[in-house]
Amino acid sequence: MHITGIISRKRDNLRLTADEIRAAVLGYSAGDITDYQMSALLMACFIRGLDDNETLALTRAMIESGEIADLSGIAGVKVDKHSTGGVGDGTSIVIAPLVAACGVVVPMMCGRGLGHTGGTLDKLESIPGFRTHLQVDEYKRQLEKTGVAIIGQTDAVAPADKKMYALRDVTATVECIGLIAASIMSKKLAEGCDALVLDVKSGSGAFMKSDALARQLARVMTNIGAGFGVTVEALITDMNQPLGMAVGNSLEVAQAIETLKGGGPADFRSLVFTLASRMLMLGIKGCDERSALDMLADKIRDGSALKKFAEIIVAQGGDSSVIDVPERILPKALNRRNICAKTGGFVGRIDTAAVGRASVMLGAGRLRKEDVIDYGAGIMIHRKHGDCVTAGEPLATMYYNRPPMLEDAAAVLEGAWRISRKRPSPLRLIKTLIPLTLPSPSRGEDTKAPGLLSSPRRGED
Ligand code: URA
Repeated sequence: MHITGIISRKRDNLRLTADEIRAAVLGYSAGDITDYQMSALLMACFIRGLDDNETLALTRAMIESGEIADLSGIAGVKVDKHSTGGVGDGTSIVIAPLVAACGVVVPMMCGRGLGHTGGTLDKLESIPGFRTHLQVDEYKRQLEKTGVAIIGQTDAVAPADKKMYALRDVTATVECIGLIAASIMSKKLAEGCDALVLDVKSGSGAFMKSDALARQLARVMTNIGAGFGVTVEALITDMNQPLGMAVGNSLEVAQAIETLKGGGPADFRSLVFTLASRMLMLGIKGCDERSALDMLADKIRDGSALKKFAEIIVAQGGDSSVIDVPERILPKALNRRNICAKTGGFVGRIDTAAVGRASVMLGAGRLRKEDVIDYGAGIMIHRKHGDCVTAGEPLATMYYNRPPMLEDAAAVLEGAWRISRKRPSPLRLIKTLIPLTLPSPSRGEDTKAPGLLSSPRRGED
């Protein structure tokens, strides 16, 4: 089975078999298939799409490229959350310590910036010394000791996602339901969680531009989770404007710390509390929404969520004084420039992907695989949807050092805000809750992911 044959079959809109998908993924992971060949295959998948069986086969192959972390020796329900990608969405940095401070174990495997969206790994690595690359043993030890670990894909766990994710980031092959679902679910299933809350973003800054597409992505992911014995719940949330006020790595870490201290922008806090409460309800028997929200508020108020974040930073080699003096510890940008409203009125539509793209151009993300991130670069948002503005008032401030694309970034950002004469109707942050998808009843505890990996369901290929 040669890779060019697999690429041309997908190019010609033929359905790939599980064996073909497995050969491509494992071949790429092993280094036998080149970046340019995988790029061509990803583009063919992007253009032609992947059906449910192809997506399941891709998820399986990506898991099979490494090992599945066995967390059965760690007591309690292990619960994670994952977002499908947004602008300014640094909620994981708050949610992981907050939920762990409530006693629920949080194994969190996340990604880097992808396309115009930011990534938790890049954000955390803006803390000097912070290591996201933990070996499986170290990851398990940290989960036992601290109750939470935030890691990236490794050469042992989800290595295919690590490579394919980096390639999709720079080849315009991100916005494909099958590729996103397999990328997210392979990481989540390989990290060893029992339950998962998915934050499926919808809107101008999301990969899914409409609620209908977001629901479709949620359905594919929840079905995969259930098939692998993991309880999954999904929320469709709004991404028609950046979440919070900060976009960019250091800036978002500073905002997350402020939120752990009890402050933070209202929309950001609200999403943190919503997602974290769902995680508590999955992780603590008999926990209802009211008691979950009360518990979360207590852990912020009494400082234990912040203390847990400090524990994570220390455990993963970072400088925990970032918590007390973030402005001294986090990398900074030397320059700032405001983007101002040309006319007065109300902020209507914000092209949120454009805000993300501008942030990448300023150096906060990668345009090529080998690009080095500028952790201090980014954008602070001053005016959001529905806000009243006067002509000349700053809408956002760019933070930058020496990006070659500064003027392009400024132009993109200037074009992102639409000012209208009429106040627009408000956006609803939490749009839909897609209820729990429980593990398939036909499959007992003993047939978790490895069972499915070795025995595809009949009629699938
Ligand atoms: N998050 C992921 O982990 N993968 C994607 O493809 C998109 C968002």
